[in-house]
Amino acid sequence: MKKMVLEIDNLKVSFFNSNGEVQAVRGVTFGVNEGEILGIVGESGSGKSVTSMSILRLLAESAKLKEGSIKFEGKELTTLTKKEMQSIRGKDISMIFQDPMSSLNPLHTIGNQVAEMIAVHNTNLSKKEVKQRVLQLFEKIRIPEPEKRYNMYPHQFSGGMRQRIMIAIALANAPRLLIADEPTTALDVTIQDQILKLLRDLQKDSNTSIVFITHDLGVVAELCHRVVVLYGGLVMEEGLVDDIFENPKHPYTLGLMASMPEVNQDKSIRLQSIKGSPPDMTNPPLGCPFAPRCNYARKMCAAELPPYVEVGNKHRSMCWLLTQGAPSEHNPFK
Ligand SMILES: Nc1ncnc2c1ncn2[C@@H]1O[C@H](COP(=O)(O)OP(=O)(O)OP(=O)(O)O)[C@@H](O)[C@H]1O
Ligand SMILES: [Mg+2]
Repeated sequence: MKKMVLEIDNLKVSFFNSNGEVQAVRGVTFGVNEGEILGIVGESGSGKSVTSMSILRLLAESAKLKEGSIKFEGKELTTLTKKEMQSIRGKDISMIFQDPMSSLNPLHTIGNQVAEMIAVHNTNLSKKEVKQRVLQLFEKIRIPEPEKRYNMYPHQFSGGMRQRIMIAIALANAPRLLIADEPTTALDVTIQDQILKLLRDLQKDSNTSIVFITHDLGVVAELCHRVVVLYGGLVMEEGLVDDIFENPKHPYTLGLMASMPEVNQDKSIRLQSIKGSPPDMTNPPLGCPFAPRCNYARKMCAAELPPYVEVGNKHRSMCWLLTQGAPSEHNPFK
């Protein structure tokens, strides 16, 4: 059995604001194995960022973790103190965000910002040793002329190079889990491919576990071992990437596949071509959240949340059409 690095069990997270309760995540369960790249895919608003930010507790003040458990290497994270959480963040678990500019400080050199992340978790190292580590890191992620770049400022870097710096900061302390929330969405296709290669090498060389969040099933196919499909704050389908692509078992996954951009098209185009819009999370539907947009929906789909059905090896899907007794007429799975 492979070791589980991350185990999320029945996670429920809501925001409380003047409109009432936004039920962003409504009972999400999945795990990440050691050395595995797990993709989380879903349209805008499905709960990808809220799920991942819950892990490191980076959510807004108005967010409340209502229920559930998040374990990292067996240790419960949800009950840690702020201080305990800080010692894990950026060391054992780190995160890369979509927009590198908003995460970098424009007033400090690139080198100092990476050095700071190392120094804060390694108080025993001298200044010189820290700088040495930064330069090694720059080489590892293929930043040309590391010595020269060390003293440059964020605005002197291209978007792709800034994202590399963010990756350097995330990798500074050799984390065992890296969470990447759409790290390539803002970048052009060539740079995106370079970043994906970097992450793949990292996983191979250091056996780092990676959670990779994306809109783009094409990226999932290229990079990930396993995938979790999120919709309406729930896992619709989960399985090995090959199984999901060869044998998708949820109408939502079918819809995402049908709207996959062609290989040569601009990959930054957001997947939107499933007709209709996502549910209002202040008042989520009683039944399957996808039912109102589903071509195959029956009466029962809107009435009650479907159970998870095991459809293969570690492959599960939440859909009434897979259950025993579901009619076979107009049923893509029977
Ligand atoms: N600070 C907040 N206050 C209130 N609601 C929020 C807040 N942040 C997120 N939400 C809501 O939580 C739900 C899930 O949002 P989340 O950011 O996780 O989506 P996402 O899948 O990451 O989408 P995207 O692909 O656009 O990044 C959405 O309905 C969103 O409107
Ligand atoms: Mg997001």
